[in-house]
Amino acid sequence: VAFKIGLLGLGTVGTGTAQILLTPTGRNPLLQEIKIHRVGVRSLDKLREVELPPEVLTNDMEAIATDPNIDIVVEVMGGLEPARSLILKAIAHGKHVVTANKAVIARYGAEIFTAAQEAGVYVLLEAAVGGGIPVIQPLKQSLGVNRIRSITGIVNGTTNYILTRMQSEGGEFSDILADAQKLGYAEADPTADVDGLDAADKIAILASLAFAGRIKLQDVYCEGIRHVSAADIAYAQKLGFAIKLLAIAKREETAIALESIDSELLQVRVQPTLVPQTHPLASINGVYNAILVEGDPIGQVMFFGPGAGSGPTASAVVSDILNIAAVLKTAGDTHQLHPLLSCAHQHYCRIAPMSELVTRFYARFLTKDRPGVIGSLGTCFGRHNVSLESVVQTGFRGDLAEIVVVTHDVREGNFRQALDEMRTLEAVESIPSILQVL
Ligand SMILES: NC(=O)c1ccc[n+]([C@@H]2O[C@H](COP(=O)([O-])OP(=O)(O)OC[C@H]3O[C@@H](n4cnc5c(N)ncnc54)[C@H](OP(=O)(O)O)[C@@H]3O)[C@@H](O)[C@H]2O)c1
Repeated sequence: VAFKIGLLGLGTVGTGTAQILLTPTGRNPLLQEIKIHRVGVRSLDKLREVELPPEVLTNDMEAIATDPNIDIVVEVMGGLEPARSLILKAIAHGKHVVTANKAVIARYGAEIFTAAQEAGVYVLLEAAVGGGIPVIQPLKQSLGVNRIRSITGIVNGTTNYILTRMQSEGGEFSDILADAQKLGYAEADPTADVDGLDAADKIAILASLAFAGRIKLQDVYCEGIRHVSAADIAYAQKLGFAIKLLAIAKREETAIALESIDSELLQVRVQPTLVPQTHPLASINGVYNAILVEGDPIGQVMFFGPGAGSGPTASAVVSDILNIAAVLKTAGDTHQLHPLLSCAHQHYCRIAPMSELVTRFYARFLTKDRPGVIGSLGTCFGRHNVSLESVVQTGFRGDLAEIVVVTHDVREGNFRQALDEMRTLEAVESIPSILQVL
């Protein structure tokens, strides 16, 4: 046996990983040369779905990170600590690392990749974004010669499941969340998913690969789906849109952005967004994920598939293990890192402030039912250079009139100023929702 694996974690992903490694028949023949040497878990008494010799299991995670017999440490335990420290320890001991942990990479990627470059080891993370969908390696390799313009993804299965059901059943967010928790599609603490934090981790990782620079997580604008209402989903549908939680990383192509030569200006954000029903991302439903990459000269490529789950995620984890094994097998004595597998960029990408963003908006108003209200909204938008694509008086909520507008492309700052002014109008009762339009 040529390559020894130390698994940190034997939960959903760890079990799937072990299952692939223990049944190599019919898969890539190189898998026969990869062996699970040790597996670290929290509880040694738990019943396990995979059969491993009892001496393989341990709860001494550090012993795995430092074991001189282990070539590749696979971190599938999750959480920030001790996962981060164990990854760094494994790197310091000259081990290659495979991880599925987007939270650790999005926060500590700079520290981890710097350490890996110095130690001359690989840190691969295909499973961290899009579960089983190959997207990290394609960005590094197959799409590597393109000038990427944008990445637009549905990268969180839980929120996509909830929004899909809100759309098909007409239910409110809180009811469908409760049901999703009962069915196991949402966690007991759904914060990371429904507030967009998990998607923010993932788009930070994708952006740093696509635009070859580091991204500070705090620069990623992040808005979740708690405030998306059944009413907005219904109006969106009437106007020809589906509402999706999109994670977007895009090269700014405005004049100011192009003036700066030293580094690119990007917008990176997570937001519930109205997606035209004809757009390929509008039909990605349920727990599925999809990532649309746009670049020059490729045009559009979309990756679609299972964004989570034991088997799919393990498929991505083991593909990383296989990649490392293949490179080590052919590298001979050269200790140079393969340039398409390692991560050498050092600088930070510049992120544009949200007020500079140019996009379309959807807004829903509740107003007093009297003549001239639509006119005064229109005048106010006009004063702030916001032109409207459509204005619909959709009906009544109690004795208030409900008005929905969709704008043409506007600068977010101008749009917000117009809304602030409208809030002071006597006829405007409230503006219950403001969403972006793709
Ligand atoms: N689940 C998915 O579909 C999916 C998809 C993509 C990425 N990921 C990522 O993959 C990672 C693992 O997720 P998962 O769903 O497989 O998690 P999980 O089912 O909760 O499994 C975690 C495993 O790690 C062990 N563990 C956790 N903390 C430990 C500690 N402090 N000391 C020792 N052992 C510890 C647990 O031991 P015990 O078994 O003894 O409790 C368990 O075996 C996470 O970073 C997650 O974000 C998951």
